Order: sequence, then C-alpha cells, then structure tokens
Amino acid sequence: MAVTGLLLVAFLFAHMAGNLKIFVGAESFDHYAHWLRRIGSPLLPETWYLWIQRTVLTVALIGHVAAATILTRRARQARPVRYAHRPKVQGSYAARTMRWGGVIVLLFVIYHILDLTTGTLNPIGDKAHPYANVVADFAPGRWYVTLVYTLAVLAVGFHLRHGLFSAVRTLGQQTPRGEQRAKAVSLALSISLVAGYLSVPFAVLTGLVR
Ligand code: HEM
Repeated sequence: MAVTGLLLVAFLFAHMAGNLKIFVGAESFDHYAHWLRRIGSPLLPETWYLWIQRTVLTVALIGHVAAATILTRRARQARPVRYAHRPKVQGSYAARTMRWGGVIVLLFVIYHILDLTTGTLNPIGDKAHPYANVVADFAPGRWYVTLVYTLAVLAVGFHLRHGLFSAVRTLGQQTPRGEQRAKAVSLALSISLVAGYLSVPFAVLTGLVR
C-alpha cells in the first residue's frame, strides 16, 4: 500500500504544480501541456513518456486497490467473529473513510479523464487548447462541476492525510515523537495539495482566471 501510494502521491504533487501554471497564462499552460507529450524527446518518440507514465500509474493504482483488498480480507480472517459492539468513533475521520474515500477518488479520476483528457464531457474538449477547456469547465454557470471537483479534491485530501501517515509507519517509523511529526507533516502536505488543486476551479469561478 505504502509504495504504490507514494508513487500516486508523487504524481498528485507534480500534477498540482503543473496546474498552477494556469496563473501564468493561457500560452504558458498550453505550452506546458504540449511539453508533457514531448518529454523524453528526441530519445523517445512523442507521447511515449506519457504512455509509460500512464502505465506505471495504472499498475500502481491496481496494486494499491489489490493490497487494500488483501489487507481487508486478512483483517477479517484474523477476527472471524464480528465484534458484538464496535465503538463508533475509531481512529480519525480519515482513517474511517479510507475505503469509501478511495472509491470516490477512483470514480472522480474516470470522470476527470473523460472531462479534461479526452474532452468527451467538456463543453469545448479541444485537445490542443487545455487552458480553454479548463476555463470553460469551471465557468460560473457550471458551478456544479466546481462542486464535484471540490468534493473529490477534499476526498483526496482526507485519503492522503491518513495514507501518508500510515505509509510512514509502514516504512519503519516507530517512535511516539516521530508519529507526532508524521501526523503534522501529513496534515500540512494534504492541506497544501487541496489548496493548490482547488485554487484553479475557484480562480475561474471568481473570474481571476478567464
Ligand atoms: C481542480 C483540480 C484539477 C485540475 C484543474 C486538473 C486539470 C487537468 C488537466 C487540464 C488534465 C489534462 C492534461 C492534458 O491532457 O494536457 C488533467 C489530466 C489528469 N488529471 Fe487532473 N486536474 C485536477 C485534479 C486532479 C486530481 C485530484 C487527480 C487525481 C486524483 C487528477 C488526475 C489526473 C489524471 C490521472 C489525468 C490524466 C493524465 C494523462 O493524460 O495521462 N487530476 N488534469
């Protein structure tokens, strides 16, 4: 879970940083999106790197879900008789919502790819002009799209807060002081990720980016 999760987190931060280019302007954002297709050139033919990245991310995602399923099954087998009474509050909100949070994020990623990568669900859907696609997507009249993105990004934030903390523990962190530090760092990273992602739709919604 930890290794595949950290790979996905690395993508999340890189993608968020790339999205912030929207504040530099249309030309810069579109140039960046076109550059993504040329990474590795001339060693690799165009879009090869992108496809390698897509393959690695898909394998990491499948591995992450498979590991979660195996761990859940193991936990159930370790306690075949269900608790007669299970206290409602168990761990943090994030810890309790990892499974459903993960499913929501997965469904969002499918919608998001159909929206901004293939353009199928986007009002413009012009692959050559991603800036225009983003601006059309989060236009004030389409506030419900911003709402969907906001809920999904918050789900990512909660998932990440607990996920990062657990990953640090899996990878060897054991002291109480280290645990406090890991908690604080996970929270700070999750908040910056959520803020970075949400800044884009809200900048469009409020007319800061047009
Ligand atoms: C409000 C926040 C977001 C914005 C504005 C945004 C924007 C974009 C845009 C413009 C693309 C298309 C890039 C291109 O083809 O040139 C894209 C692709 C993608 N985004 Fe996002 N994104 C956001 C949040 C997220 C989140 C939270 C995730 C993951 C949980 C995510 C995962 C992806 C993936 C997997 C792709 C496909 C990359 C590929 O083509 O291989 N995005 N995003």
